[in-house]
Formats: sequence, C-alpha cells, structure tokens
Amino acid sequence: MPVVVGVLSEAAARESRVALVPEIAAKLKSLGVRVLMERGAGASAHFPDALYTDVEFGDAAAILGAADILLKVQPPTSAEIAALKRGAVVIGFMQAYARPEGVRALKERGITSFAMELVPRISRAQSMDALSSQASVAGYKAALIAANTLERFLPMLTTAAGTIRPAAVLVIGAGVAGLQAIATAKRLGAVVEAYDVRSATKDQIKSLGAKFIETGVSAEGAGGYARELTPEEKARQQEVLDARIAASDAVISTASVPGRAAPRIILKAAVERMKAGSVIVDIAAEQGGNCELTQAGETVLHGSVKIVGPLNLPASLPYHASEMYSRNLFNFLKPALPKGELAIDWNDEVFAGAVLTHDGQIKHEATRAAIEGART
Ligand code: NAI
Repeated sequence: MPVVVGVLSEAAARESRVALVPEIAAKLKSLGVRVLMERGAGASAHFPDALYTDVEFGDAAAILGAADILLKVQPPTSAEIAALKRGAVVIGFMQAYARPEGVRALKERGITSFAMELVPRISRAQSMDALSSQASVAGYKAALIAANTLERFLPMLTTAAGTIRPAAVLVIGAGVAGLQAIATAKRLGAVVEAYDVRSATKDQIKSLGAKFIETGVSAEGAGGYARELTPEEKARQQEVLDARIAASDAVISTASVPGRAAPRIILKAAVERMKAGSVIVDIAAEQGGNCELTQAGETVLHGSVKIVGPLNLPASLPYHASEMYSRNLFNFLKPALPKGELAIDWNDEVFAGAVLTHDGQIKHEATRAAIEGART
C-alpha cells in the first residue's frame, strides 16, 4: 500500500496559501506516494484543480481518514486532529506556544507532528527553511506597503518640474524579512539605511547598497540570533535610532528575538518627532510590534503618521509563498520517504529538532515544559 499524502484547503481566516503546488505534487508522485487533495485547495493561491494532474481529489473527511501524512500551512484544527488516523504525521506551522490545546490533542491522538518553524537553521536545512522563505515574502511586501502608504515618491526624479528628492527608508532588523525589505526599497529608488543589533548584518546591509547605522551596541546571541539587550545598551541604541527614525519618511520594522515578544524599538515620542505624512510598517505586529503604537491588523493614524501593523503577509502573495513553502515541505519530507515508504530517521537532527509530538508525547522540550510544567 503506497503512503498517502493528504492536502486540505486551509480553514484559517486570511489564509490563502496551499501546502502543495502542482510541481511538488508531481515530485511526490515520482517518489511512489499517493497524493489525495481536497478540491479547490489551491484555488485561493491561483493553482486551479486542473493544474494538479498528479493527485487524486477527495473530500476532507476521506482525506483525513486515509492520510498517513497531512501537509498543512496553518496548524491543524481540532476537528482535523480528531479525524486523523492514530500515528499519522502532520507537517506545518504549528504555533505551539499559541495553541496548547492543539498540542495536547496531537499528543493524545498519538500523532507525529513536525513544526516547520522548528526546523534547525543549519546549512543542510536551508532548502527546508520555511520561516525564511515566508519572511522574505513578508519583507518584500512590507516595502511595497510602505511605498504605497507613503503619499510621496520613493525614487529621485529629475523632471521638467524640477528635481524630486528620494524618500528616506529606515529598516530596523536585518534578518530575512529586513534584508528583503531593504532590497525592495532600494529597487524602488529610496535611500535606505538599516539597523540590526547583530553586527554580522553590517556587510549584508551594505552589500544591498544600504547604509548601516552604527549605535555601538552589538548583541550577537546563540545560534546566530540576537540576545536581549541590557538597559544601558537599550538606551544607547534608542538615542541613535530615535534620530534616524525622525529623519525617515518610512520605517519598516522587522526586529524579533525568537520565543519572545517583539522588542519595543519605536516609542511614541520618536513617532511624534517624525515628519508629517511619514509611515511605519511594523511587521512584528503579530508578536506585539516593534512600535509602541502598533495595533495588529490595523492602520493607526498618530498625528499624521500612519502605523501599519499587517498580519500574515505571506498570504498576500499566495502564489509564490505557496510555491516556496511547498518546496520547503518537500525537501523536509523527502528523506523520510526512502523508496516511497515512511521511515523517519530520529537520529537526523532535522527531524529530531522539528518534532513537536510523537508516540503520545510532547517531544519539543520548551513546549512540553510550558504545557506540562517542570519534570519532577
Ligand atoms: P529573523 O530572526 O531572521 O530577523 C529578526 C532580526 O531582528 C534579527 O536579525 C535580529 O538580530 C534583529 N533584532 C532583534 N532585536 C533587535 C533590536 N532590538 N534592534 C534591532 N534589531 C533587532 O526574523 P525574520 O524571519 O526576518 O522575521 C522578522 C519578523 O517579521 C518576525 O517578528 C517575524 O515573526 C515577522 N514576520 C511577520 C510576518 C507578517 O506577516 N507580518 C511574516 C513573516 C515574518
């Protein structure tokens, strides 16, 4: 009996991505698995059913009952978890910290769940790094939102009506999303400067043609992420940044520290020093925002400064976001399907790192401790 891979329409509001695109369906089929897909699942990402020539279509209940592996974008709903076979595998963004009841249900149903956000960020796993692929979509879109919200030109223009000065864009946080925002704002002709607490980003920022803001504070942390700053470091950073924020027409903020609320970097006082008509696009809105005034999912007007707090930006570019995500899923899954059969190598640090629940247990220690408390 071939392994059955199931794909459903995403039930979550504002989710237009799909976990499987036709190109990857063909690759899965060539591994010898059967792909069962819900009709219309790709439609909102602009992949109509007719393009899926390598799948069999079925209804959600039949897919959930038959799937050995369920591919998802958003975490499985409680109804989906309840309908899966015992021992089935689910792979997707699991958002464990926000959905403890979902994690408990996965555990109790004996489901093996892998969280794409837990895939270790090692070189071998770059092709599986869905956080990065989706963040690059978010960074690109954030720059477009900034351009579109700002009621002035981004590029310098030399016209018969005189010269237009280019807009000044400041990008705070130069991780995957921030670097893509820098590149996009540059392409649109803005003068871009950027800041990150990790000094390693300096060369990356410069290589994109942007200026790196020196504050004299460096915060390299474990695993290539930022660490939390001390109060003195924060004050120093703040002083320099406040001046740069005041000088910007648009600020795109993407700063984040894994597992924590987004650092508060743009304070109300700094917003009040900005020029009339300036714009802040705060893509850390979902984690509480880098700007004190951000409201997730809203555009706030403070004086005449607009503060945009977009949610689920990757879903606003569902075609390419799905294409990238689906490739990430395939690269993750392929080593678990040697000869088309499901065989997970638990000694592989990618599977061992990304597993959330398996065999009736919560395997990811931070999640387990948050849900079940300290081990006695
Ligand atoms: P990342 O971890 O690659 O980058 C975050 C960057 O922020 C790092 O370079 C880090 O050094 C920097 N940072 C941390 N503290 C800082 C501080 N105090 N000052 C300046 N920089 C600081 O993360 P990635 O993938 O680029 O995502 C960035 C943010 O965007 C995250 O909050 C993520 O959740 C969010 N995001 C939002 C989306 C949306 O739809 N709104 C979609 C994708 C990502």
